[in-house]
Amino acid sequence: MGRYIVYGGKKLFGITDIHGSKNAALPVLCGCIINSGINVIRNCPKITDVFNTCHILEKAGCKIKWDGSTVIVDSSKARFIVIDDELTGRMRSSIIFMGAFCGRFKKAVVSKPGGCRIGKRPVDIHIEALEQMGVVITEGLNCFSCSAGKMKPCEINLRFPSVGATENIMLTASCINGVTVIKNAACEPEIECLAEFLTSIGAETVCENGKITVCGTDKFNNTEFSIIPDRIEAGTYIAACACAGGEIFLKNANVSHMKKVIEVFEKTGCKISFCDGGIYVKSSGKDITPQNVKTGVYPYFPTDMQPQLMSVLTLAKGTSIINESVFENRFNHALELNKMGANIEIDGCVAAIKGVTKLEACELTAFDLRAGAGLIIAALTCDGISYVNGAEYIKRGYEAIDKSFADLGVSVRFENR
Ligand code: UD1
Repeated sequence: MGRYIVYGGKKLFGITDIHGSKNAALPVLCGCIINSGINVIRNCPKITDVFNTCHILEKAGCKIKWDGSTVIVDSSKARFIVIDDELTGRMRSSIIFMGAFCGRFKKAVVSKPGGCRIGKRPVDIHIEALEQMGVVITEGLNCFSCSAGKMKPCEINLRFPSVGATENIMLTASCINGVTVIKNAACEPEIECLAEFLTSIGAETVCENGKITVCGTDKFNNTEFSIIPDRIEAGTYIAACACAGGEIFLKNANVSHMKKVIEVFEKTGCKISFCDGGIYVKSSGKDITPQNVKTGVYPYFPTDMQPQLMSVLTLAKGTSIINESVFENRFNHALELNKMGANIEIDGCVAAIKGVTKLEACELTAFDLRAGAGLIIAALTCDGISYVNGAEYIKRGYEAIDKSFADLGVSVRFENR
């Protein structure tokens, strides 16, 4: 528990490092159970979701050792465990242990992911796909039980390119001798990162235009692997600079993963340029141009950047429209922004944001990870001190957000309560 105290009204100036990607690290860590060996995973973010994943791996007999931002996972003595809701806690993404366990242990019992603040988030696509691979799945009241003794390589055509379902299939398929093909697969950079990891342990995996080919094996090797930089973390600091103003450099940010995000923030008025080492952003924080943006699967504008963009657009010179097409209930932050004086109207999955000239500092509550980041960004634009409750959500996905903002010259302090 805790909150962030945001001292607003200052522009951002400075350089900060972008950490490893949360959404890439989680499936890679799950995948470490597959090779019965040593996995040296570099550039791993120190965030709650990663610690929870490591905790499950430890419970399953893996040895975990941290050295800076490198985590070493020794899965040689891994054993089957039931992944109950005490272990999965609030981490919905633990559903991808299902695929990794089916691959390594030929069985899995995983508690059902609970309801979520940003939508219902069913797992029907995961289940259908694993069943197609020969996994027999029984749905209990609280968990899914999987028996994966008779799996076979196959061709799977996803009816929606779900990120988690694609990862579950990849993890399972890497352990099935033969070639599994996933069509209409998710093609986020985090999926490519998992493909490279699986290739590095011996299951050659290729992603190409929405099609993924996994050459499964039963002979794996040790690996040394590096997690890609977090495009959402980088995007969050771009958004902060876009509305608070300033001049910042995001070290290690990977521009090739962020084309749509950069395009949208350039249109709001930011000057953005890049070099090998990262992304440079400059903004006056004034005269923000309104936008009409629809979130979508990669390479479209990421839903995980929608709350941060909304905060920026509350101060635009005119009316913006955001259409949230990925999750059906991801506008909780709009009510909090309206408390600050924003003018946002929600109609189903469409938000109309009429720009106002300023937001007022106040006490706010984050109900999910990216909404929390969006509220901190909005608070940075206000004269005065704001409080953002729900710090535990923000810590799920941002390593030391207080330190990163301090690098950029503004004060966002964590208070444990
Ligand atoms: C992942 C990311 C999350 C991001 C999301 C979309 C991780 C740990 N999380 O979540 O940060 O916001 O991708 O980019 O990587 N759906 C179904 N049935 C299914 C699966 C999904 O209907 O079986 C629906 C969901 O309810 C949602 C949409 O598909 O509306 C997208 O979900 P999905 O791509 O699976 O997202 P996650 O893997 O949960």
